[in-house]
Amino acid sequence: MSDNIASTSTAIIEREHSVVFQTYRRIPVAIDHAIGARITDADGRSYLDMLGGIAVNALGHSHPRVFEAVEQQIRRYMHVSNVFYQEPQVRLAEQLVHASGYPRVFFANSGAEATDGALKIARRFGSARGRYDVIGFTGGFHGRTYAALSLMDKPLYKDGMGPFLPNTLVLPFNDVDALESRVDENTCAVMIEFLQGEGGIQSATQEFIDALFALKQQYGFLVIADEVQSGIGRTGDFFAFEKYGVRPDIITVAKAIGGGLPLGAIIATEEAAALLDKGMHGTTYGGNPVACVAGSVVVEEVCGDLMHHVREVGNYMFSQLELLHHEFPEQIREIRGRGCMQGVVLSTDAAPYVQELLTHGVIANATAGNVIRLVPPFVITNDDVDELVNALRTVMSVSRG
Ligand SMILES: Cc1ncc(COP(=O)(O)O)c(C=O)c1O
Repeated sequence: MSDNIASTSTAIIEREHSVVFQTYRRIPVAIDHAIGARITDADGRSYLDMLGGIAVNALGHSHPRVFEAVEQQIRRYMHVSNVFYQEPQVRLAEQLVHASGYPRVFFANSGAEATDGALKIARRFGSARGRYDVIGFTGGFHGRTYAALSLMDKPLYKDGMGPFLPNTLVLPFNDVDALESRVDENTCAVMIEFLQGEGGIQSATQEFIDALFALKQQYGFLVIADEVQSGIGRTGDFFAFEKYGVRPDIITVAKAIGGGLPLGAIIATEEAAALLDKGMHGTTYGGNPVACVAGSVVVEEVCGDLMHHVREVGNYMFSQLELLHHEFPEQIREIRGRGCMQGVVLSTDAAPYVQELLTHGVIANATAGNVIRLVPPFVITNDDVDELVNALRTVMSVSRG
């Protein structure tokens, strides 16, 4: 590696520090290129990517089919606006309808926008019935807009930014008593991640979901499943909620659905979709045709053999991480999650471990304080898992001293 090349990352990082809002705690890696589950930095160093663009790059980086679809679409048109009918949007909507079993799709640009749109549907539903309370849960993450923040509890994201939306409240996750004591005839909607990502790869308990849907039956509010991180096959099911045997009214997706391009969607029942009349909701870029053709490849691959692979490689990863848990019981408290969405729960802060992992060529991130989050591309192999586990073993051994 020449000195000239070696200085490239540092130079980019310094330039960023001088001109960009300093809102991100970035990993100190400036990217040169990425293929599959590998990222190469501007200094020529290669990393195993167990973060996948924070649960975005389901097919891995630079997937040839995504690349080809995007290139072909760009040659036809890149943007024409939602005043026109566009085959790429219709096709992806049809695929999502087929994969989800829900009849309607609205395209947005991001997860937060999908959250916002879903809440507008909820408020329309509630205002026609004189009920306004919308409920979120501790540890939940729904995006950075005011509607999303109003349903979240983490002080870092909210401090000094209030007031937030009225008639919103955040209840303790997995607390059946709190749920039963606060949900009533004023509740218009509940938004929930069945498998929390940012909250530390934390699953809702079956008991909690059963209680939620019993209350839904009693009071008739809407349930919105936030599948932005957990959806589109990441857990080995198309949606994380599937294993609970329930049917939410509205589902939000983003991240994986765009194949690396910005895209989000609201997937809904006919009744929920009908609450937004013509002109009531919209976006200039949502359902951009280039993002939609990339999304079509993602859904096709996921609904082909890939979801099966996610289950297999996910089971292998879980079993290998469990072995590591037994080797380092003082440092590792628990392994959580499934498929390509797992967390190594530590007894202490995860950030130093993540930093050390980086020096061993593995990219992951720390979330919820003490959790190493693993949300890799679905195309990772058992060999990649072995590489991750070996790097973790080295880091654990060194830190045990
Ligand atoms: C569960 C969940 N919902 C919503 C969002 C917001 O998505 P975006 O960052 O695309 O606005 C995220 C982002 O991390 C998420 O994990």
